[in-house]
Amino acid sequence: MARNKVTVVGAGNVGATAAQRIAEAGLADVVLIDIVEGLPQGKGLDLAESAPVIPHDARIIGTNDYADTSGSDVVVITSGIARKPGMSRDDLLSTNAGIVRSVVQAIVQHSPDCILVIVTNPLDAMCHVALEASGFPRERVIGMAGVLDSARFRTFIAMELGVSVEDTHAFVLGGHGDTMVPLPRYSTVAGIPITELMTPERVQALVERTASGGAEIVALLKTGSAYYAPAAAAFEMVEAILQDRKRVLPCAAYLTGEYGVDGLYVGVPIVLGARGMERVIEIELTAEEQAAFQKSAAAVRELVEAMAAIASAAG
Ligand SMILES: NC(=O)c1ccc[n+]([C@@H]2O[C@H](COP(=O)([O-])OP(=O)(O)OC[C@H]3O[C@@H](n4cnc5c(N)ncnc54)[C@H](O)[C@@H]3O)[C@@H](O)[C@H]2O)c1
Repeated sequence: MARNKVTVVGAGNVGATAAQRIAEAGLADVVLIDIVEGLPQGKGLDLAESAPVIPHDARIIGTNDYADTSGSDVVVITSGIARKPGMSRDDLLSTNAGIVRSVVQAIVQHSPDCILVIVTNPLDAMCHVALEASGFPRERVIGMAGVLDSARFRTFIAMELGVSVEDTHAFVLGGHGDTMVPLPRYSTVAGIPITELMTPERVQALVERTASGGAEIVALLKTGSAYYAPAAAAFEMVEAILQDRKRVLPCAAYLTGEYGVDGLYVGVPIVLGARGMERVIEIELTAEEQAAFQKSAAAVRELVEAMAAIASAAG
């Protein structure tokens, strides 16, 4: 049986690291594609040359030609630019929306049945662009954010309590970034809610550190942003899909009434398997959690509306 095929669009930090993880796990053959000539070819060849040492048999190539991506089962979109000094949020929004739109259009021509995993920021808004540009059903356009946010929360919980990360589980809802909504009462260590293991002040401190987890890394790196954990999170989603694992993971999903939200990508727990997003898992929220969730959804709606306004102004 042929190995699955995964294309990673964007051979930058997140894309190349995700490609490495996928190939080294033997999960799929990988095509790394980027707009910059030579970059994906160089990284692809370098990764291929590490295969005998790892060892693994996955084929990995780099290219600038979308024909090479044809027949991909899953496509991870990481292409975009980072915000540069002097660039407004709207500039970034419209530049990355243009990039994501054009790459998704090229991808679907060659892989009409693929599942899209979106990584490019601003995440929730880019999911909207990809859904529209692909014409795919919502089940096949899913955003990566919650897995990363909850991995950060789990890391901080494990550090705080001196326990294995394996025994920590975290539950986060909402948009990616500042308005993310971690749910401490559903975040557990071996099934015990963390609210029983630490003071409300410490829980709050970890929640705040998680919400600004991306900024903490940017401040340390100074140039560039996090990529090891984001790539690991994208890998986990790709694996859940290709191995039909029915993992329950927090992902950006297009809601059609769930959690009282209609027509918007927001982070919620979903069942992720061979058909992509197979189901949204809905839970009862307290009034306070519901308010935080609605605030997060409103922030996503604001971005989507800003994007529409920029697009119509551009004619
Ligand atoms: N969702 C998340 O939780 C999360 C986490 C980390 C990073 N990100 C986002 O992922 C994206 C990638 O981050 P990175 O650190 O890898 O950035 P990076 O700058 O290292 O890589 C981006 C790559 O995209 C390529 N690119 C630009 N335009 C392209 C086009 N039209 N077609 C193909 N490739 C194109 C660039 O050449 C570059 O190699 C950013 O938008 C970042 O904000 C999201």
